[in-house]
This record gives sequence, structure tokens and C-alpha cells, in this order.
Amino acid sequence: MSMRGFLARDDRAITQVYFRDPVVMERGEGVFLYDIEGKRYLDFSAHYSSCCLGHSNKNLITAIEAQMSKLISVSAQFSSMERIYLAEKLLSLTNGKYGKVLFGCTGSDAIEFAIKAVKHHKKGGNIITFWRGYHGATAGSAAATGKAETIQIDENISDLLPGGFIHVSPPYCYRCDYEKKYPDCDLFCLKYIKKRVAQDGCANIAGVIIEPVQAAGGVIVPPEGYMEKLKQLCEEMDSLLIFDEVVTGIGRTGTMFACEHWGIYPDILVAGKALTGGYIPGSAVLMKKDIAESMDKLTLHGHTHSAYPLMCASALANLKIIEQEKLCNNAHVVGKLLHNRLLGLKSISDKIGDIRGIGLLQGIEIVCGNGSKRADFIFAEKLYRNLLKAGVITELESSYRLESSVLILHPPLILTKEQAEEAVEIIRNVLIILLK
Ligand SMILES: Cc1ncc(COP(=O)(O)O)c(C=O)c1O
Repeated sequence: MSMRGFLARDDRAITQVYFRDPVVMERGEGVFLYDIEGKRYLDFSAHYSSCCLGHSNKNLITAIEAQMSKLISVSAQFSSMERIYLAEKLLSLTNGKYGKVLFGCTGSDAIEFAIKAVKHHKKGGNIITFWRGYHGATAGSAAATGKAETIQIDENISDLLPGGFIHVSPPYCYRCDYEKKYPDCDLFCLKYIKKRVAQDGCANIAGVIIEPVQAAGGVIVPPEGYMEKLKQLCEEMDSLLIFDEVVTGIGRTGTMFACEHWGIYPDILVAGKALTGGYIPGSAVLMKKDIAESMDKLTLHGHTHSAYPLMCASALANLKIIEQEKLCNNAHVVGKLLHNRLLGLKSISDKIGDIRGIGLLQGIEIVCGNGSKRADFIFAEKLYRNLLKAGVITELESSYRLESSVLILHPPLILTKEQAEEAVEIIRNVLIILLK
């Protein structure tokens, strides 16, 4: 059957709640995906940042197969060696800064638990969160999200969202909400949080949740000094700090966790996506000892599939491969090269408004150019589609509400310098053709 035929069947049989490209994929190998017509794509999306080892990694598959023939699943009613080993591994990877771990199935449910933990530990209170941040699709995680996703703007379902979240401006220096310039701004956006809290009359701020680098919000990297000051602000407000490292964790930014860039270990750190290597779903919430111990007293939080041995074994094998193959360092080195090559694209057109990122999480912000920073949604869409046709898969985060359009590149951590060069060359050629 043809591609068109399969897509028509997909339309008929699947509820299309998510934007889908007109491609049916068949197989993957390393950084490449192949569609059913045999066309090869450089996968710079890596299953939304999950497939850190690329596709069909033999060692990871062998470990998963071995676990499958031993024990796939056992309920949380029992322990398993795999969940103990994985929890201990995560605790050692974070230098003993955390006391305990809770496992989940997706990033969303892990964030949901982190929010519960903050509120329970602080005996209630509000949570500060950032516009443009994405934290998940379940009610609590969606309420923390600052991107006006469907659930927030569809009035038929928006009353599913719990209250108690205060959204504030992220450190998006390219488009500062306060129209200030870094460093002259003296991090006004952080100072304003205090003012906002006072004006809202919220004495009790239980926690602050932030993605160390906002990913789906447009790869927003905080400026120097921001994280340290945010941590200080949390201390002043007697609030807990949660890092949502669902995208930035597990090597993506060139360190195992992005928090290492600032030497700041938040009170709660959430990992997901690439934790398991991306073939098996799984997530983890790392908590400081006192928080974990207060949650120990609660019974019943969990999902049928949390912490099942197959997930834990996959994560253990994945982390071992990342360490053995020094993939955090690879993300740092190849990410730097990718960033520098992308910067070179700015000379082709001033439609490339900004290039930002750390490690293998890079963003290309598309604007109208000719001196205007207005987002060029139509051009960004054309670029995204034509890149796909030319064999490079990216992720387009365009939002009329947020007035920005950013192409996101987050390839597997195994990306080589040559593959990074190849992708940038394709982007360059596509840009030149579109600008003619
Ligand atoms: C930063 C961040 N947090 C949480 C989530 C939710 O993860 P999941 O889609 O696995 O539920 C995502 C998903 O894209 C994310 O990007």
C-alpha cells in the first residue's frame, strides 16, 4: 500500500489530537529514520528528545530482551532488584544530593507527583511557574504549563485544571517581556516575581517549577547569574525549587543533568523521556531526603506500570551506555559545533533571528527580518516542511499567542560531527532555495 493509502487509514482509525506529518515511518537506525518508501531522514527530533542512543541501539535492545525473558512487570506491591539498582544509580549520579526516588511512566505523571510532593511537604500554598514552559498533559502538569495548550484555551475542558499556579515571565532575553536588555536589566524579571507575589497577596509560595532550559517554549537558555538568583529567591520565599529536566536531563545539554551547569541541585529534580533510552516509557522524581520522607507517609500515589522491572532495566542499560560511550561529552562537543555552524546561517538571511542552545538542544528563531523581530510563522512552517522533504526532521514550536516561531533541533546524543555538518548543510541549502 502507498504512503497516501496508509495516511488515509491513519486518519480514519486514529484520533488526530496531535499534529502529524504526512509520513509513515518504518524503521530506524542510529540517527536515521526510514519511511515506508525507503527515504532516509536525519532525525533531529529523536522522538521528542527521548531516543538519546538513536534508533535500534543493539546493546540497549539486548539488555531489554534479557530483562523481558527474566521479569517484565511486577506491581509496586513488590520490590525488584532493578528498581533498587536504578534508584541507587540516580542517587549516585547526582552526588548524593537526593534522598530518594519515585518512578513514573511519563514526564507528565512525574511532574504531577512533584507538584503533590511540594504541596504536601509545604502544607499547601501556590506554585510559581513560567510562561512558555511545558510540563505535561495531565491536569496538574498542564496547569503548570505556560504555553496555552488546548486544555487551557478550550473552555469546555479548561475547568479540569487545578488552580494555585502563578505564571511569570521566563528569562527570554531575545524577547524580554519587560523590554529590557541583559545585563543592564539586572535580572528585573526575577525581581518582578517578588512584586507579583506581593501584589497577588500570596504569602505562601510552596514551590517554583522551571525547565532549566525551556525546550518546547523555544529553547530559552537562562542568562548568566539567573539560576543562582532564582535559587536565592526560593530561599527568601521559603519555597522549594523543582527542575523539570524531562528534556534537559540524561545528557542532553552536555552534562548528565542540566543543573550541573550551575552547580545547583534543586529540591526536586524530574527526569523522563531519555531516562530509559526512549524505547520503553519511564520517568523519575528525585527528592531531597526530608521531602521524600514526608511523602513516604502518604500511601497511594502511583500508576500500574510505575517502576516495573523492564523500565528500570532499560534505564540502567541506557545510563551505562551513556557513561561508557561518554555521550554527555559528545553532546557537549558536537553540540558546540552544531551551534557554531547554525550561527553561520545568520549570514544568509536576517530571517534567522536568533540561534540558541546548550549541547544537543538548539533552537533557530525565525523572524520577519529587515530589522523586524516579528515572528514569521509562514516562513518557519515552510522551512520546517521543506527540511522534512529534504530529509531532516526537526520540531517546530510556533505560537501566535506567544508571538514566536522556533525550529528545535535535538538529535540523538550519538550524533557525529559529520552528521551535524550534513544537517546544517541541508538547512543552508533549503534556506537558500526558499529565499530565492
Ligand atoms: C519539559 C517537559 N516536561 C514534561 C513533559 C511531559 O512529558 P510526557 O510527554 O512524557 O508526559 C514534557 C514533554 O514534552 C516536557 O518537554
